[in-house]
Amino acid sequence: MLIERFDDYEQLSIKAAELVKEQILHDPESVLGLATGSSPLGLYENLIDLFKKGDLDFSSVKTFNLDEYCELSKDHPQSYHQFMQHHLFQYVNIKPENTHMPTPPSVDNQMDCLAFDKLISQNNGIDLQVLGIGGNGHIGFNEPGTSFSSRTHVVQLHEETRRANARFFNTYEEVPKKAVTMGIKTIMRAKKILLIISGQSKQQALYQLVFSSVDEAFPASVLQLHPDVTVLADRSATATLEQKCPFTDNRLNI
Ligand code: GLP
Repeated sequence: MLIERFDDYEQLSIKAAELVKEQILHDPESVLGLATGSSPLGLYENLIDLFKKGDLDFSSVKTFNLDEYCELSKDHPQSYHQFMQHHLFQYVNIKPENTHMPTPPSVDNQMDCLAFDKLISQNNGIDLQVLGIGGNGHIGFNEPGTSFSSRTHVVQLHEETRRANARFFNTYEEVPKKAVTMGIKTIMRAKKILLIISGQSKQQALYQLVFSSVDEAFPASVLQLHPDVTVLADRSATATLEQKCPFTDNRLNI
């Protein structure tokens, strides 16, 4: 795992966009795994800028998103469908039919979830998966305790996660209680992983990402087993980690 440190979120986001650009230039038909939440917002802004400058072409790119709330329609302003439209898709030349969001299944229909994994496999897997991390170590919506062998599935959101996401809703009560998410195994199958960690509130999560034992109690710890993970973190997120592991030239190879 390579951890790169940046002075601020803006610098981190420029680097994140460079890595995604490299991937698309290397293979214009790249399959990207995309995340929502605050962490990738700067990345998406930079990708839009690169597209507007003519430096990026999304016409053959395919995307698969990590997760989606259950209990919200696709048109709900806080659905991740809408998030992706508003923060990326509507501004670039990606084909709507090449963008894929997990769909909340009809009651108890696990087959609908597994179809998402199947579709990813039929597209030769994810080349580059963008991730954020929750304060409790969740990736996608895989809460602590999720099996490392999980595929796309429906989850009950933890109170901590609902509280963290309540900032996007009028009230805490409005935050959905369930979501559909790529599983840990789905995420681990991506060829490369790009994890964005920003802000003081993520210091402990970054520290545990590195020092926790690989355990389902801290889902992101599984990334220690992935062969190609790049973590981009800003100084406000690295502070705790740095007390134990000094960076050399803003880099730390674990
Ligand atoms: C949310 C999302 C995750 C995201 C994480 C961190 O619950 N489902 O995909 O990575 O929490 O969010 P943020 O980047 O807003 O801190």
